[in-house]
Amino acid sequence: MRGHARASANFALVKYWGKRDAALNLPARGSLSVTVDALYTETTVIFEPDLAADCLSVDGRPRPGAATLRASRVLDLIRAAAGASLRARVLSKNSFPYGAGLASSASSMAALSLAAARALGLDLSLERLSVIARHGSGSAARSLHGGYVLWREGTRADGEDAHGSQLHPPEHWPLRVLVALVDAGEKDTSSSQGMQETARSSPLYAGWLDSVNPDLEAAQLALAARDLAALGEVMERSCLTMHAAMMSARPGLLYWRAATVALIHRVRALRAEGLGVYFTIDAGPHVKALCAPKDEAAVRAALEATPGVTRVIACGVGGHAR
Ligand code: PMV
Repeated sequence: MRGHARASANFALVKYWGKRDAALNLPARGSLSVTVDALYTETTVIFEPDLAADCLSVDGRPRPGAATLRASRVLDLIRAAAGASLRARVLSKNSFPYGAGLASSASSMAALSLAAARALGLDLSLERLSVIARHGSGSAARSLHGGYVLWREGTRADGEDAHGSQLHPPEHWPLRVLVALVDAGEKDTSSSQGMQETARSSPLYAGWLDSVNPDLEAAQLALAARDLAALGEVMERSCLTMHAAMMSARPGLLYWRAATVALIHRVRALRAEGLGVYFTIDAGPHVKALCAPKDEAAVRAALEATPGVTRVIACGVGGHAR
């Protein structure tokens, strides 16, 4: 009745921002990500006969409320698959700041789905676990697989085909991702809420949606060819188009801080100096820089020297949840 799993976070190269079904957490468009090895969640799930409700602790702190409700959505699907009704104690530990726009919901929901399945003796495929984890957090659909992962939007109304699939294993292209932490505080607008507000009120939302499929195609070609300049160009474009749509929601949604903007300029200046480095930013102030291993030391030093940066975490491409 006890299971343990580790799953890595992922960062989208082509972003997910908008749902076609909020209840099932189905994305309006596909997205493409890289799984990162240094940011991960380790989760233990214990199903216990005496528990009246699921209870969750994250990094040693009880998390009743929204975080537990999210975990219960995933646990309910695992329970249904196993024909079980016991409630669970969930102990979750992150190798990085939780709830700060660093994809902790992706790694934690992916680890939870696998640990819970194992606790109840279920041997589910990564694709099936991806569908289940997606109910807790959309981007978690991309955290079961390692390497470079495509989350298809799917066509089925029940969402069973909207799961992650590995496009390339980590060895295909051992890029580096340097995460420049700008502020360790927790974000005030959740991704789900931000997406709904963007879809409802941004005049740029339709343009954002139109941009995704061409970017997915270009990114897949660049990945297959290991063309960093082409991939970096698509990655920055997808990030900026998504943020433009968020910023033009009413009220405008701005996750950036001064240091976020300084880092964008720093990355572009490094490129002008001849380094192959590209940025992306999610629903938080941090900047993730993608580069080849040979440029890592120079990029890291430049990011660390940018005012407002508290820490840089270096990641390689991570493997499957296990
Ligand atoms: O999985 P969610 O609901 O936390 O949404 C993730 C949204 C972004 O990180 C901004 C983009 C993405 O594709 O990961």
